[in-house]
Amino acid sequence: MTVLKTALDVRSDEFASNRDAMLEKLADIDSLHAKAVLGGGQKYIDRHHQRGKLLARERIELLIDEDSPFLELSPLTGYGSQFALGGSLVTGIGVIEGVECMLIANDPTEKGGASNPWTVRRLLRAHTIAKENRLPLVALVESGGADLPTQKEIFVPGGVMFANMTRLSAAGVPVISLVFGNSTAGGAYVPGMSDYVVMIKDRSKVFLAGPPLVKMATGEESDDESLGGADMHARTSGLADFYAVDEPDAIRIGRDIVKRLNWKKLGPEPRVDVRPPRLDEEDLLGIVQPDLKAPFDPHEVIGRIVDGSDFDEFKPLYGSSLVTGWARIHGYPIGILANARGVLFSPEAHKATQFIQLANQTNTPLLFLQNTTGYMVGKEYEQGGIIKHGAMMINAVSNSSVPHLTVTLGGSYGAGQYGMCGRAYGPRFLFTWPTAKNAVMGPEQMAGVLSIVARQAAEGRGQVYDEAADAAMRAAVEGQIDADQDVRVTSGLVYDDGVIDPRDTRTVLGISLSVIHNAPVESTRLFGVFRP
Ligand code: COA
Repeated sequence: MTVLKTALDVRSDEFASNRDAMLEKLADIDSLHAKAVLGGGQKYIDRHHQRGKLLARERIELLIDEDSPFLELSPLTGYGSQFALGGSLVTGIGVIEGVECMLIANDPTEKGGASNPWTVRRLLRAHTIAKENRLPLVALVESGGADLPTQKEIFVPGGVMFANMTRLSAAGVPVISLVFGNSTAGGAYVPGMSDYVVMIKDRSKVFLAGPPLVKMATGEESDDESLGGADMHARTSGLADFYAVDEPDAIRIGRDIVKRLNWKKLGPEPRVDVRPPRLDEEDLLGIVQPDLKAPFDPHEVIGRIVDGSDFDEFKPLYGSSLVTGWARIHGYPIGILANARGVLFSPEAHKATQFIQLANQTNTPLLFLQNTTGYMVGKEYEQGGIIKHGAMMINAVSNSSVPHLTVTLGGSYGAGQYGMCGRAYGPRFLFTWPTAKNAVMGPEQMAGVLSIVARQAAEGRGQVYDEAADAAMRAAVEGQIDADQDVRVTSGLVYDDGVIDPRDTRTVLGISLSVIHNAPVESTRLFGVFRP
C-alpha cells in the first residue's frame, strides 16, 4: 500500500486566497444552477402549479428512490443564449427501484416544453450517455414539439433523437415514456418510439397535429380528447400501455415498470472494503490558483479522491510532468493520468501510451485529470519528434476501449486536451472544476500570435505596422478568448457534463463509475500504427 502524504500548507496565504477565489466561482455557479431550476420563470411555475401539475424536478424527485442522489447533467446548457438556462429540459441519472436510469424530463414552464436547439444538444448528450453505459431511459414528457421560430436548426439534426430511442431498444436497453401533458408532433414520437408508455387521464394529449392543424390540413373538426387523449390511446389506438389516474399514479406505474425489467449490470462488481481518502476532501478548494499561472501537484488532488489515499505510482521518475498510477475509487479499480507541470514532453507521451495499453491489458477504467498547456513546442522538441509522440498518445487514447473519465481541473489547451481525453475523445463522463479553461491556447498567446502574423504580413507588403491598431486588436482578442474559455461558456455549449464543486469530485466519480459498470468493461489490443 502506498499512501499519499500531503505537502499542502492549509495555513498559507496562497491556500487561503486560492480557496476564497474558488468559493467565489462556486457561488456564481450555484446562482446559475438556481436560475436553471426556475426554468421559464416564476410566472409559468405558478401557472403550472395552479393547474395541479408538478414541475419537472418534482416529478423526478418522486420517481427516484427516496433520499437517493440525482446526478443532474448539463444544467448550464444554453448559457448566454436567448433561451432560458437549461435548454427547457432536465437530464440526469437517478436510481429507480435500485436501477440506475437516464431521466429526461421536459420543462413545460419554458415555452410549453418546446424543443429549441439547446434542448436538442442536452438531449442528445443524455442519449449518448444512456447508450454507452447501457442505462434504461425514462422520458417524462410534456412538450409542445419543436420550438417553431428555431425549427430550421433542430428539425433536421434533431430527428436523430427518435432513431436513438429505437436503437437503444434494439440494444436491449428499455425506453419508457411517462406522458404528463401535451406531446405534440415530434413530441408524439417520443411515446411512439418507447417500449412502455404511461398516460394520464385528462392530462396526456398525444397527437401528430392538434385540432387547429387538423382543420387546416383536412378540414376535419376534432377535439383534444378524441384526437389524442389518454382514454382514447388506452382503449382505441393502443399507444398507451398503462392508464394512470393522476401524476403520482403515473410515477408509481413508472417505478413498477422499472422494477419488472429484471435489470442486471454487466460490469464487474466493486470491492466492498471501501475506505475514504485519508487526506481531507475539503482542502480541494485551495489547490488550484484561479489564474492557472502556477502549476500544482496533482498528488494533492489524487490523495483526496482515491480510496484510502492509496496510489501506486507508475514510472514516477520518468516523464514526471505527467503522473500515472493505479488506485481505487469507491471500490472500483482505476488508472489515473494527471498533468503535473502543464506541458507534455516526449517522455510523458511515451509513458501515457504504455500506461493506457496496460489499462487495456488489465480491463481497468482510466481517469484523466487535466491541467495542460499542450505538447512542448520549439526546435529541440520538434527535432526530437514531439509530433509523433503526441500523436502516439492521442492514438492510444482514441483506440483504448476501457471506459474513460475526465475531470478538467485547470487548463485544457491545445492538443494536450486531445491527448488527455477531452470531449471529442469520448470519455464516458467529463466534469469540470470552476477553475477549468478550454481553448486552443491562452488569450495572451493567441493575441501575440495574431499580432506577429499581422506584423510579418505588413512588413511583407512593405507597409509600416500600425502599433495603435495592434494594441487594440490584442486587447480585443485577449478579452474575447478570455470570455470564450470560461467554464460557464464551455459548459453552456455542453462540452462537459457539468461544473462540479471540487469537494464532490470523489462522489461524482463514484456515481459515474457505478453507472459505467452497467455495461461490460471491454479492453482492446487494437491501436493505430504507433510512431515511437
Ligand atoms: N414553439 C415555440 N413557442 C411555443 C411553442 C412552440 N412549439 N409551444 C408553445 N410556445 C410558447 C407560447 O407561445 C407561449 O409563449 P409566451 O408565454 O411567450 O406567450 C409559451 O410557450 C407557453 O405556451 P402556452 O400555450 O401559453 O402554454 P400552455 O401550457 O397553455 O400550452 C402547449 C402548451 C404546448 C399545449 C401549447 O402551447 C401548444 O399547443 N403549442 C403548439 C404545439 C404545436 O403545435 N407544436 C408543433 C411543433 S412541430
